[in-house]
Amino acid sequence: MSKLRYIPLHTETTVQLKTLIAQHENQPGALLPLLHAVQAKFGYIPSDVVAPIARALNLSRAEVHGVVTYYHHFHEHKPGKHVIQICLAEACQSCGSEALLKQAETELGCTVHSTRADQAVTLEAVYCLGLCASSPAMQVGERLFGRMDNQKLRSLLNQLELSA
Ligand code: FES
Repeated sequence: MSKLRYIPLHTETTVQLKTLIAQHENQPGALLPLLHAVQAKFGYIPSDVVAPIARALNLSRAEVHGVVTYYHHFHEHKPGKHVIQICLAEACQSCGSEALLKQAETELGCTVHSTRADQAVTLEAVYCLGLCASSPAMQVGERLFGRMDNQKLRSLLNQLELSA
């Protein structure tokens, strides 16, 4: 009987991370592009990549962690299948984005800054998507949506088949 070869995920992650670091470490301002590459590869920024990135870029772990937590774009935990971001910055707030966020929480059965138990969706509040002239704005995955209202939001969630 042949033995199954067990490769712990963290070992594979380490190999992939080393490749990403090698691709970015010599470029000026490497931290942000490297974090983008890590998130593109893993879907989020696993906590165990912070120390090796800090060592490679001659930064403190606090500096790397600070950047990861400062930018809402970066996820510290594996996100759901769909990531929904609703803008709560000034222009969108003045056009009703807080009410949209509440509606999304209710319809999705998911509180802001969390992932629903079935991993179908992560709901985030963000602060400016660069679509201020079309407030209130939101983003689903890579797609931006402007001039949102309750009906458009409901229709969008129905299209994604995300109702709780
Ligand atoms: S304030 Fe919402 S997109 Fe800029």
